[in-house]
Amino acid sequence: MSTDLQFDANGNLRHLITLEGLGRERINALLDRAVALRTAFADGARGPQLLAGRTIINLFFETSTRTRSSFELAARRLGASVLNFDIASSSTNKGESLEDTLATLEAMQADAFIVRHRENGTPARLAACARRAAILNAGDGNHAHPTQGLLDALTIRDHHADFSPLKVVICGDIRHSRVARSDVHVLSALGVREIRLCGPTALMPKADDFPQCVLVDEFDAAIAGCDVVIMLRLQRERMIEALIGDEAEYFSRFGLTAQRLRQAGPDALVMHPGPMNRGVEIASDVADGWQSVILDQVANGIPARMAVLASLLGPDRAMPQASAAAASIP
Ligand code: NCD
Repeated sequence: MSTDLQFDANGNLRHLITLEGLGRERINALLDRAVALRTAFADGARGPQLLAGRTIINLFFETSTRTRSSFELAARRLGASVLNFDIASSSTNKGESLEDTLATLEAMQADAFIVRHRENGTPARLAACARRAAILNAGDGNHAHPTQGLLDALTIRDHHADFSPLKVVICGDIRHSRVARSDVHVLSALGVREIRLCGPTALMPKADDFPQCVLVDEFDAAIAGCDVVIMLRLQRERMIEALIGDEAEYFSRFGLTAQRLRQAGPDALVMHPGPMNRGVEIASDVADGWQSVILDQVANGIPARMAVLASLLGPDRAMPQASAAAASIP
């Protein structure tokens, strides 16, 4: 898939479809902006209203708890109006194409669409036909989940200013995971020393899917000496056949327990993008333990998404039609 689609003629980010190809400098600029916005909005403060007058539409064709609420809160706190488009009662169920739905909503002067869809490539498809609005990928199939990658990088950066000595393990259903893909893109761009991928054979990716990673079969070997442990959910809804055995067996081989975690580095961070299945991929005491930064990930989702929204739609971003309209206000 072309990543050029994300940039305008001046090389500015126009859509956010994937972190692949974004580069260290641009990623660090987004993370720096996220930190600045986190500070500006700390303790419920009313921070800069960078999206005042903007309209953002959530287009979620798949279920979501944290991503949708996080985008909505980020946009509202920056002063935007947010519409949660109700797919279930929309004309997409009457055979209208996604492109026509987009054109219709764009005609109502939407400035951005936050898109989640089960098929890889849907946000890119919409970006290719958007007239003026920005498209932000909130997760497509197993392709990408770029804001999750950013918030994960931000959470790690809060503990490690330098990524170069870090060893990271990602364990679980790698094959079906867009989070794994976006995490690998962002962590590679930021220069981590090693990324290990681990999971049952049936849930491992094809070797050439992740050329920059080391694939390890046994979790005990994979976790040894790691600074960051990222656990993934078993994505039953994306499994075509029954690819693994029962959950108890899965937990005994790939579950993150306190005992296993002791084999990682002494202060290893425990991460999970959610939703978590306690007792399947992670033990409850580890999910709630002192090394867990799972709720920090959730909290960081808001400033990370604010940073992306502000970069795509904020006042420092030239949007000819919008500024012409603003200039004519008496
Ligand atoms: C993930 C998703 O939907 O991609 N969750 C999230 O957005 N934080 C991971 C999952 O569904 O397991």
